[in-house]
Amino acid sequence: MIALILIGGVGTRLRPFTNDFPKTLLPVVNRPFLEYQFDVLKRHGVRDVVLCTAYKPALFHRCFGDGRRLGLRLRYVHERRPLGTGGAVKNAQPYFRDTVLALNGDVLHALDLGAFLDRHRRRRAEASIALTRVKDSSLYGLVETDTDGRVRKFLEKPSWDEIVTNTVNAGAYLLEPAVLERIPAGVNYSLERGLFPQMLEQRARLFGYVSRGYWMDIGTVEKYLQVHIDILSGGAAIRLPGSRRRRGLCAGRGVRLGRELTVDQDGCVVLGDGVRVGDFARFARHVCVGSDCAIGKGAALEDCVILAGSSIADGAVLKGCVIGPRCRVGRYSVVSAGAALAGGSTLRPFSQL
Ligand code: GDD
Ligand code: MG
Repeated sequence: MIALILIGGVGTRLRPFTNDFPKTLLPVVNRPFLEYQFDVLKRHGVRDVVLCTAYKPALFHRCFGDGRRLGLRLRYVHERRPLGTGGAVKNAQPYFRDTVLALNGDVLHALDLGAFLDRHRRRRAEASIALTRVKDSSLYGLVETDTDGRVRKFLEKPSWDEIVTNTVNAGAYLLEPAVLERIPAGVNYSLERGLFPQMLEQRARLFGYVSRGYWMDIGTVEKYLQVHIDILSGGAAIRLPGSRRRRGLCAGRGVRLGRELTVDQDGCVVLGDGVRVGDFARFARHVCVGSDCAIGKGAALEDCVILAGSSIADGAVLKGCVIGPRCRVGRYSVVSAGAALAGGSTLRPFSQL
């Protein structure tokens, strides 16, 4: 089977970090996010992947090339003007002849592809949508199904008074080639606002499949931090990179640790290659530090993500925040919950954010 991954979004809600990376290349626990999707596909024997690009395509080529290094066959289909989720699938039509798996590129999802496909076939569906349960359906595509799984309603980003269920589109679809005939060619067209409502109107065989595995869309800064917390706390069932240097601390190659560091009892820290940590630094809860960062003496870090090449000077305090790549956080600065520091920023000593 061939998988299409939709990666053409600009990632507006993940600014400032999407100034430096397209959303799906953002490092998550020090790996480009898309690699987690590749892992899921490989686990299910899918090695033929088409990446549907529209924003910063060259960066994807540079990062993954033809995919051989990752054990994949990667091909790229570029949209000169973004075609929307449906238009992107239509644009990739020459690459597949059978049932195709289409995925939103910004979702971390432990999808059981075998079960999804099996259900799709048994129902003789024209299209199937993987579903997940969330707290706030208004941010997603709300999907209401009958008891036999047939989709009754698809409502993208419903308003509060339209929310009738907490089951939403998880951003993974199985599509029969016939469905592609429903999508107009060469124009911007949405699966969520165009194809699915149209299929329902015409009583086409559109089914939902509730996936119970871990699921998270990394679309906002808050969720980007949350996905790190989930991975570091073991909630996403993903192995941490690096080697375990002490309880709660995994370090990459060439990491230098100072004296008398503290790692919280239930804390989990991941340090990328070449990170240097000063004496008496303190880590609490979940902390992920990108490669070649420097953490100063006595700095205190709690629930935060620091991207590659940044330095956090002596005595700085970081809590609940994300620091972009190549930042300089000055001595004794305090960066508090919700802060998102753009790549290359400098905070002068004693700043409070
Ligand atoms: N190639 C291409 N071209 N890809 C696109 C385009 C485009 O024009 N527009 C969006 N994408 C990609 C994005 O890069 C992302 O990976 C995926 O399609 C979904 O777009 P988002 O912008 O992230 O949509 P969303 O998060 O608001 O909503 C979607 O995902 C939810 C689940 O995370 C919808 O599919 C919802 O129904 C769904 O619940
Ligand atoms: Mg999204």
